[in-house]
Amino acid sequence: MNNLNHLAIIMDGNGRWAQIRNKPRKIGHQEGAKVVRDITIWCAKNSIKYLTLFAFSTENWKRPKAEVDFLMKLLLKYLKKEKNTYLQNNIRFKAIGNIEVFNNPLKDMICELEESTKMHTSLTQTLALNYGSRDEITRTFKKLLKNPPQELENLESLIAKNLDTCDFPDVDLLIRTGGEMRISNFLLWQISYAELYFTPTYWPEFSTTELSDIIKSYKKKERRFGGL
Ligand code: IPE
Ligand code: IPE
Ligand code: MG
Repeated sequence: MNNLNHLAIIMDGNGRWAQIRNKPRKIGHQEGAKVVRDITIWCAKNSIKYLTLFAFSTENWKRPKAEVDFLMKLLLKYLKKEKNTYLQNNIRFKAIGNIEVFNNPLKDMICELEESTKMHTSLTQTLALNYGSRDEITRTFKKLLKNPPQELENLESLIAKNLDTCDFPDVDLLIRTGGEMRISNFLLWQISYAELYFTPTYWPEFSTTELSDIIKSYKKKERRFGGL
């Protein structure tokens, strides 16, 4: 049976979930935020150590300003509202991505939550915010080129140690909701040997029951990592 240390999820389908119900897309995002909470608590209670959730990509700025503004407000509201969830469940909060571009209240809240939960030991829940894998790798190279290493023998591990995910293990299982079979610039380096699972379920309808079933099938897979 495979161990599940690091679960990553591309939370897709909020807008379509709302649209087929004749509701504005923002209702889908609101419902989606509730699911984030349920899934996070479930993971903490089921001994998963790392949960990384794709919440806003470097490409999502292309959306209409009203939707982007709504998502930024929702994110701040979510973090404020859920602070107690992190505290009561011993969950460590982390953000990856380029958060420099966010407004000050949001940046401050992210830092405050990271700081107040940094000693927590059950689950590390990471939100990927203004995250793009190519952007992450590019930022990493910029950092390394400013202070080039003396020798290149361990370059692979040096790169890994300078990514936003430097203190996380590789992803074991990547789930994408919403029916699309693509990665959309998420954790390209870290999913090298992850098992991939695509479900048609829109994120607001995703449940702990479905997650538990996916994990059961993941545990039975034969992972060979190139060996026999
Ligand atoms: C995912 O849902 C959430 C974000 C990308 C912020 P979408 O908003 O992409 O929903 P669909 O894919 O349009 O249904
Ligand atoms: C991926 O979903 C990003 C997040 C879930 C945050 P998108 O909806 O942005 O991806 P594409 O545009 O369908 O590839
Ligand atoms: Mg989408």
